[in-house]
Amino acid sequence: AASPAGMESSQVAVVGSGLIGRSWAMVFAAGGFKVKLYDIAQQQLTSALENIRKQMKELEASGFLKGSLSAEKQLALISICTDLKTAVEGAAFIQECTPENLELKKKIFGQLDLIVGDNVILSSSTSCLLPSKLFTGLKHVKQCIVSHPVNPPYFVPLVEIVPHPETDPSTIERTYALMKKIGQSPVKLNREIEGFVLNRLQYAVISEAWRLVGEGIISPTDLDLVMSDGLGMRYAFIGPLETMHLNAEGISNYCERYREGMKLVLNTFGPVPEFSGETEQKISQAMSEKIPVVPKHLNARREWRDECLTGLAKLKKQMSSN
Ligand code: NAI
Repeated sequence: AASPAGMESSQVAVVGSGLIGRSWAMVFAAGGFKVKLYDIAQQQLTSALENIRKQMKELEASGFLKGSLSAEKQLALISICTDLKTAVEGAAFIQECTPENLELKKKIFGQLDLIVGDNVILSSSTSCLLPSKLFTGLKHVKQCIVSHPVNPPYFVPLVEIVPHPETDPSTIERTYALMKKIGQSPVKLNREIEGFVLNRLQYAVISEAWRLVGEGIISPTDLDLVMSDGLGMRYAFIGPLETMHLNAEGISNYCERYREGMKLVLNTFGPVPEFSGETEQKISQAMSEKIPVVPKHLNARREWRDECLTGLAKLKKQMSSN
């Protein structure tokens, strides 16, 4: 087989076929990789395949299918399997997508450690478990890494690559190259930190949002508008640092103009919220009025969100080729 992105083979294994595992399978298939999808629950695998087929057909019909192969060809690249050893045999890369539970993940990596060779990369989708917790003590720790996707990975390309202190630099580079190759947008963390980077930024925003609503400064729906019709408009294209650079004559000029003002505002920030009590009630009520907490409404809104993200991805592509 060809060896895309410096990989030994063009075959990957996805361990766990839930929400994230399905999405990874689609992303890898779009990149032309053969995918073996593994789960302990046969029922999950069957429904994963059905769901992937349905999504790919819909994406193809609307012109949003990723990659250069047809939906049928991409589907033919994905097979399912309930035997871990068979699933990982011949794979150059294993993406673990089991529930966010340290003991469970450690058990799975322990099993993988016993059956893999010295070249495969063992990668976890974990949102918040640190590599030092997941991989310490494994024989193949040099080949272990976290590749944290953003939900849904098919539409939001960012992947945070987080090494264990003993991860080999070549594991980082090969993972980075593979993510690029399948059309994702990888970023490297030089060392692990609680929440990685995406969730640290997200929690900074959530926590100030919570305080502002809690203090009665703004309503929950207006708070969300500040992001979706304000900050978020530019954040889809440029980050907070480039925003500073462009909003003045460069970073130094921005700091000169705004450092005192920023510090003044930042010093008025309150403590970490409890995320409970009255503010929780208030936000929950406002959100539930807008989107009732029943599968029908939640799913319709999620579908709409994914359509928006697909359109945005298309726009971003157009804008970057200008
Ligand atoms: P999920 O609950 O939808 O899927 C988990 C799957 O793992 C299920 O199909 C289950 O049958 C399977 N499973 C359970 N035990 C297993 C075992 N021993 N071996 C193989 N498969 C097993 O979970 P989801 O949302 O897909 O999350 C998976 C991982 O991705 C978690 O670590 C999560 O933190 C991470 N993640 C989730 C995001 C999200 O928004 N859902 C975003 C980014 C990362």
